[in-house]
Amino acid sequence: MPFLSDTLARVKPSPTIAVTTKAAQLKAEGRDVIGLGAGEPDFDTPQNIKDAAKRAIDEGKTKYTAVDGIPELKQAICAKFLRENGLTYTAAQVTVGTGGKQVLYNALMATLNPGDEVIIPAPYWVSYPDMVMLAGGTPVPVVATLENAFKITAEQLEAAITPKTKWFIFNSPSNPTGAGYSRDELKKLTDVLMRHPHVWILSDDMYEHLVFDDFRFVTPAEIEPGLYDRTLTTNGVSKSYAMTGWRIGYGAGPVALIKAMGTIQSQSTSNPCSVSQYAALEALTGPQDFLAPNRKLFQARRDLVVSMLNQAKGITCPRPEGAFYVYPDISGLIGKATPKGTVITNDEIFATALLEETGVAVVFGAAFGLSPNFRVSYATSDAVLAEACARIQRFCAELI
Ligand SMILES: Cc1ncc(COP(=O)(O)O)c(C=O)c1O
Repeated sequence: MPFLSDTLARVKPSPTIAVTTKAAQLKAEGRDVIGLGAGEPDFDTPQNIKDAAKRAIDEGKTKYTAVDGIPELKQAICAKFLRENGLTYTAAQVTVGTGGKQVLYNALMATLNPGDEVIIPAPYWVSYPDMVMLAGGTPVPVVATLENAFKITAEQLEAAITPKTKWFIFNSPSNPTGAGYSRDELKKLTDVLMRHPHVWILSDDMYEHLVFDDFRFVTPAEIEPGLYDRTLTTNGVSKSYAMTGWRIGYGAGPVALIKAMGTIQSQSTSNPCSVSQYAALEALTGPQDFLAPNRKLFQARRDLVVSMLNQAKGITCPRPEGAFYVYPDISGLIGKATPKGTVITNDEIFATALLEETGVAVVFGAAFGLSPNFRVSYATSDAVLAEACARIQRFCAELI
């Protein structure tokens, strides 16, 4: 009898974490490595949030809490949805988990049966398909193209829906492409969803605050109130408030779904960290004035990276609307060889050769469901980004 479960065989370890680990290992060996793999802001959690956490500790708020969140935080989340998204929820419609990841996982675990299909636009965040498979469902990728700015069309969505479709996962701005759907683009998708009342919508709004130029963030339940009763809108403090390590995410949707998600959580982790919940409360209710400068900073970095990568031979890099990623296309490099003789036959070989020969760590596109590409996280300083892009330019120029 095998010791490991069949469930384990359905998933693979996160490739983004694997790249970060490999880069750290090379660094420890003394190599000059620039990591562009990690999906987290490079600056510290704002002081007022840290202070709120310290106060929570001093006040003894260090015990178990209600499984899916303290009432104050749920109220703050309701206020956030109303203020920023025009969505009205009661506390009973809100759940708080250990990161956005747990909230998504709870939703899938609480709803998927074998054979249930989940439509996932590709390129996708690496965890979606594996979470769906872990929960016993079947991921159905719908591939967006470079030509359509990495956004799927209404026709593609319509064609992917079957009687077995349970969820449509929507993520805008997207990890890994940074692509953001405008109101008009999203309306075309919600019109399709209105015609298929058995399909639920899981909107992952994690990068809501990281949008550039005059792009305006929109979420499905806001655009199409007719979908409110079958939409779970998820979000979190990890990316917007530089709080990846605190592990707080949240979601809002129909009471029955939220209750079911709470049941899953009650038999896995119980409540998210009590201290982190008070920190998240401060993040959502305290001053929001650092969001705008951060947006500006990330926008400038995006412009730098897009411009430098487009100057690299064989690379095409679209300019995304948000998040802190770009997803360049490397079709022009396939079939070429490095001076050391490595032939670039796919994006995984490209990323490995780039890391070994230049010390720049990126994540290969196959991990996100669209090749040949790679993902750059530009959540690092201008100087580091300029050096990394210069190395990529040299690497590409030397390919024969
Ligand atoms: C699209 C997307 N959703 C959810 C998450 C998970 O966020 P958290 O760290 O809060 O679990 C991430 C993190 O990388 C992400 O990129």
